[in-house]
Amino acid sequence: MEREAIMFMDPGDEAPFTAGAAGEERAAVSACEHCGGAGMVLATDAEGRRRARPCRCQQELRQRVRLKDARIPRRYEHCVLESFAVLPKADPSLGMAHTMARRFVESYPLETDGRGLLLTGSIGVGKTHLAVGILLALMEQKGVQGLFYDYRELLKEIQHSYNPQVNSTELEVLRPVFEAEVLVLDELGAQKPTDWVWDTVALVLNTRYNDKRTTIITTNYPDMPASAVLQGSAAQRAAREETLGDRIGERMRSRLAEMCVRIEMNGADFRQGAGRARFG
Ligand SMILES: Nc1ncnc2c1ncn2[C@@H]1O[C@H](COP(=O)(O)OP(=O)(O)OP(=O)(O)O)[C@@H](O)[C@H]1O
Ligand SMILES: [Mg+2]
Ligand SMILES: [Zn+2]
Repeated sequence: MEREAIMFMDPGDEAPFTAGAAGEERAAVSACEHCGGAGMVLATDAEGRRRARPCRCQQELRQRVRLKDARIPRRYEHCVLESFAVLPKADPSLGMAHTMARRFVESYPLETDGRGLLLTGSIGVGKTHLAVGILLALMEQKGVQGLFYDYRELLKEIQHSYNPQVNSTELEVLRPVFEAEVLVLDELGAQKPTDWVWDTVALVLNTRYNDKRTTIITTNYPDMPASAVLQGSAAQRAAREETLGDRIGERMRSRLAEMCVRIEMNGADFRQGAGRARFG
């Protein structure tokens, strides 16, 4: 009896991914019911030959590893552009924001030319959802190497990487933030940093812009000047809502205007209203 010939398809980009994957991701695949963790399965091709081909779990694993490398938190994994609903009664700015997000992905990188986006709006309007949706789309459609950072997390890492002996920040730790092709910086201004931490953040943003690397920023603070710049009594200023200028300084705010196209998002907290009515 003729022995069954098993031929391997040219693995190319589809090679089993199990070897390089991180522990948690690999564990999910070793439980795969189709391949038992081998990463390959046998299938009969059109000529009736048995061939080994990558198991379907491989694509999922690759996606998981990509999300992990990009540091996209689990709670935002579902945030793709396709799942951003523009409800009939929603504020028109949300539909516009969604359209701009799609256009941005289409025109990246040639037309965007290093310019990023600044998504502003109140709590729960969907800023992070759109920012992550753009990042995921760029990773998937344009092969972009993406990175997600919560602003407070970034401040913490800068602080931790500070080396008192040489009185400076270990740039090695920050290298991925400098070098990521597209960086999402979520909740800019959520925390007030010390001067030297802020200098480092400003250096990161400036260097990225000068190197034509795209940064997508979200913030809860209205993109308006710092209070001190405005007229009015101290009491009036104190009663006023804090602005982005208050939180990051006027100089950086005007720099951001140069670096990013602003997308203003108005509307209610999706978690409280539309989202609950629709999904809850
Ligand atoms: N238009 C939308 N369609 C579908 N889901 C949405 C939409 N807007 C927001 N969401 C969902 O509502 C939740 C809150 O949205 P998101 O975190 O993006 O808001 P945010 O503006 O970043 O809020 P915060 O200011 O608190 O950071 C998320 O789970 C998000 O997926
Ligand atoms: Mg957010
Ligand atoms: Zn499998």
